[in-house]
Amino acid sequence: MAIEMIKTGVSGLDKVLKGGLRKNSSMLITGAPGTGKTIMALQFIYNGAKLYNEPGLFIATEESLDDLRSFTKNLGMDLEHMEKSGKIVLFEKPLALMKGGITSLKGLVELIKKKKIQRVALDSMIFFEYLYPKSNHNLLEYRRQVLLFMRKMKNAGVTFLTVSERKITDLDRLEYDMLDFAFEGFIVLSRIRKGSYFERILTVAKVRGQDHSLDVYPISIGKGGVNVLADQVPFSLVEKGEGFK
Ligand SMILES: Nc1ncnc2c1ncn2[C@@H]1O[C@H](COP(=O)(O)OP(=O)(O)O)[C@@H](O)[C@H]1O
Ligand SMILES: [Mg+2]
Repeated sequence: MAIEMIKTGVSGLDKVLKGGLRKNSSMLITGAPGTGKTIMALQFIYNGAKLYNEPGLFIATEESLDDLRSFTKNLGMDLEHMEKSGKIVLFEKPLALMKGGITSLKGLVELIKKKKIQRVALDSMIFFEYLYPKSNHNLLEYRRQVLLFMRKMKNAGVTFLTVSERKITDLDRLEYDMLDFAFEGFIVLSRIRKGSYFERILTVAKVRGQDHSLDVYPISIGKGGVNVLADQVPFSLVEKGEGFK
């Protein structure tokens, strides 16, 4: 069977991924706060529906839906318009409603079927940490629930993107969590300091079974959201002499 590829909807990223993502795969975007993870996850859903006609579901645990709707307007994404046209669903999972745990996700799978959802973004994995805190005795349960959720998304036939936060995003000192390897794709967002200036960068650490670029790319955030400058080398690395290794 031919492998079906889908476009991420993030400008420049499909070029770095040499074509896009495998349909029905799972992708993790990780990085420090403020690196553009939420914006990328929203682009995946918004542009997926707008440009590629794939209905999408965005599950927010970090920010309120009203906040998301208003701050994306500045980036030229009209979430409300797409919601009204029925092509995207934004879903807020306030902590108070999470008590049902994973069983409450049954409704989610039904929603996916009903709305013919093809893309799901979960912002963020914090969702599971609230339910199953990563204290020692719960670490296994936490991982088990993340894997269960991923399996549910796979069985539902959607392409799944989620977001996680980490403290250290220095690319040379990155620490991996066991769960990172459970995802088929793994993207790191970071900032590189150059004097008093920070440059935003992105690198694709892995995509299982797929050729992709391993380079580090500069990104910008502005109209349209995150834009990966797929033809450029971060100048902060060039000046360190690391761009031409
Ligand atoms: N309209 C905008 N123009 C330029 N940059 C923006 C705009 N809106 C947000 N940003 C940048 O995006 C960052 C937040 O991105 P976000 O996806 O919420 O980060 P994360 O989810 O990784 O914490 C902010 O730090 C800000 O610098
Ligand atoms: Mg965020």
